Amino acid sequence: MKTITLSTLQAYKRAGETFSCLTAYDASFARTAAEAGIEVLLVGDSLGMVLQGHASTLPVTLDDICYHTRCVARAKDTSLLMVDLPFMSNASTDRLLNDAGELMRAGAELVKVEGEAWMAEGIREMTRRGVPVCAHLGLTPQTVYQLGGYKVQGRDAERAAQILEDARTLVDAGASVILLECVPASLGRAITEALDVPVIGIGAGPDTDGQILVMHDVLGVTHGRTPRFVKNFMAEADDIAGAFRRYHEDVKARRFPAEEHSF
Ligand code: KIV
Repeated sequence: MKTITLSTLQAYKRAGETFSCLTAYDASFARTAAEAGIEVLLVGDSLGMVLQGHASTLPVTLDDICYHTRCVARAKDTSLLMVDLPFMSNASTDRLLNDAGELMRAGAELVKVEGEAWMAEGIREMTRRGVPVCAHLGLTPQTVYQLGGYKVQGRDAERAAQILEDARTLVDAGASVILLECVPASLGRAITEALDVPVIGIGAGPDTDGQILVMHDVLGVTHGRTPRFVKNFMAEADDIAGAFRRYHEDVKARRFPAEEHSF
């Protein structure tokens, strides 16, 4: 299989071909996901919840993320490796650059940061130094306490317009990819059409360029309330590799997400 790079994702966007992304936190699952054809692996700070048992992603440290990045990097094969900057990495530009550097040294090929238009300066400084950036907008789990819970963002016209404007600002600042979490499908489509860079969605409807899910949700290991955008692919597969393949194939064929998974 061809190595996936940012240029590959750009080419997919130009060709109208969608791509699949999945979180991975260790070598064995990363290899299985890569062999299933998943184009982008994310070492997400969701590891704080699904691996460490915290109620949010906030307690995850840079060391935690670097450890899991090194594990995944050894096994990611041809997939592109995206990695999350943890909570408060964006406290200052110096800290952002230091933390992004540590992630790249650990094996990241694309660094994901949460934040709105005010992140533009930090994104500009990272990209100037050769760090490719994915900007995460919409529901940003690191601000869950400020948002008052894991709620769909951009339901009203004013907030939707703000998210679109933020996405434009962050792309102008150098972001190579936008990730949208939990926004109405109409907004997911509008932002994807408005931008030249690939847009990845989770709970952002069927029209974004790529789709991402947390690995545990794909395997039906979801505790507590199952979010609307989640699908358990294990229910239709014989084994884990089969569930990953099914997820990948359903994304590529635009069978997933369906309307029932969208807002
Ligand atoms: O940390 C994570 O897993 C994420 C996904 C929900 C996109 O950011």
